[in-house]
Amino acid sequence: MRTVAFIRNTARVVALAALAAAPAVFAGDPPPQYAASCGACHAVGVAGAPATGNAEAWAPRMEKGMEALVASVRNGLNAMPPGGLCNSCSDEDYAALITYMATAQ
Ligand code: HEC
Repeated sequence: MRTVAFIRNTARVVALAALAAAPAVFAGDPPPQYAASCGACHAVGVAGAPATGNAEAWAPRMEKGMEALVASVRNGLNAMPPGGLCNSCSDEDYAALITYMATAQ
């Protein structure tokens, strides 16, 4: 019985620790679609893709406005395939992904 109580208490402490840590862990984390789509090219800047977190590379792109950038992703642009490998993404998802890549530290 003592062991069970110990495990239960330990689990509670771990859960509380995870909750307490959550805001720090999630702040600035990539949107869920990032790793399996945009990140494949933008994480390292494949084929001229503006690299995630490279504010200089993103600045001239951001000047086009979010609507134009979302359209570039939807339609594809040179080496970027239409949809950027995320065909289930909404325009809002694309905007969040673009904002993440342009502002990530
Ligand atoms: C297969 C590689 C690849 C993937 C996957 C990819 N991109 Fe790109 N992306 C590129 C390349 C290459 C460019 C630069 C195109 C150019 O200007 O010639 C680019 C450019 C862009 C631009 C700038 C467009 C403009 O009009 O200047 C945005 C915004 C963008 N990508 C967003 C995304 C988003 C969001 C995703 C994920 C949903 C994504 N990309 C996935 C390769 C990729």
